[in-house]
Amino acid sequence: MPDTHEQGYFTEENSAEVVIGRNRNARDARLKEVMAVIVRHLHAAVKEIEPTEEEWLKAIMFLTDTGHMCTEWRQEFILLSDTLGVSMLVDAINNRKPKGASESTVLGPFHVAGAPELPMGADICLDRKGEPMRVSGRILDTAGNPVAGAKIDVWQANDEGFYDVQQKGIQPDFNLRGVFRTGADGRYWFRGVKPKYYPIPDDGPVGKLLRALGRHPYRPAHLHYIIEAEGFDRLVTHIFDPDDPYIDSDAVFGVKKSLLARFEQVSDPARIAAAGFDRPFWDVNFDFVLSRAGE
Ligand code: BEZ
Ligand code: FE
Repeated sequence: MPDTHEQGYFTEENSAEVVIGRNRNARDARLKEVMAVIVRHLHAAVKEIEPTEEEWLKAIMFLTDTGHMCTEWRQEFILLSDTLGVSMLVDAINNRKPKGASESTVLGPFHVAGAPELPMGADICLDRKGEPMRVSGRILDTAGNPVAGAKIDVWQANDEGFYDVQQKGIQPDFNLRGVFRTGADGRYWFRGVKPKYYPIPDDGPVGKLLRALGRHPYRPAHLHYIIEAEGFDRLVTHIFDPDDPYIDSDAVFGVKKSLLARFEQVSDPARIAAAGFDRPFWDVNFDFVLSRAGE
């Protein structure tokens, strides 16, 4: 005889425990634990909110619309996770670093594998728009030694706030993307364009939710990095322009104090010429410190 009432009949008071009890035969212990936590918190939230049936249907329709918005190129659930701060929380939990190591931040949806490997000093800006920028720095270990052979994968939005993959046929493929490899001195340098703030895709349900919450969709100007070297933890991070108007209100909570870089405007003709530019440029210097695997 099926023991359907093993935890007693479902009531408002014991709702979570009845559902959790029903999952007791789950073969996967982790799934069982995760579902117990989710059911407990979800039921507690519903009890606190006491939604009307119309409100609950609205929530379900929001999730339905979020699913319908997803395509091969658009992941609306990740945007939801980003804007609720959950992506940054998962990132923090999974990337605890030893003292002195550079901090991580969200990967975002615009990384493209297979960007061209370029010689140091290359210009990744292929659309020639915006204000030129030179970025340089070192890849170090936590003892301050240079890391040789580090692979640095960088990408950024263009002067109009779009990644190449958002403007296929408008921007050249692999515009503002490049992969560089450090030599024995751990140094890297390349050219790009001064980044600008841009909105996360906000023409879907997540954008609608942000507007309803009185929030803007902007991310402050940044450059993305993935840095990998043998024997070290992979670092997924950004550097940010501290003077950006949205630096204190990133739509996805990705800003960390340690990731604020200095963007120096260079207009001295001698320095412009020495750096190989033909007009004023922005100079950004930022070192990254990698943690050793297991450190
Ligand atoms: C980005 O920086 O590319 C990004 C991160 C999260 C959501 C949307 C965009
Ligand atoms: Fe970005």
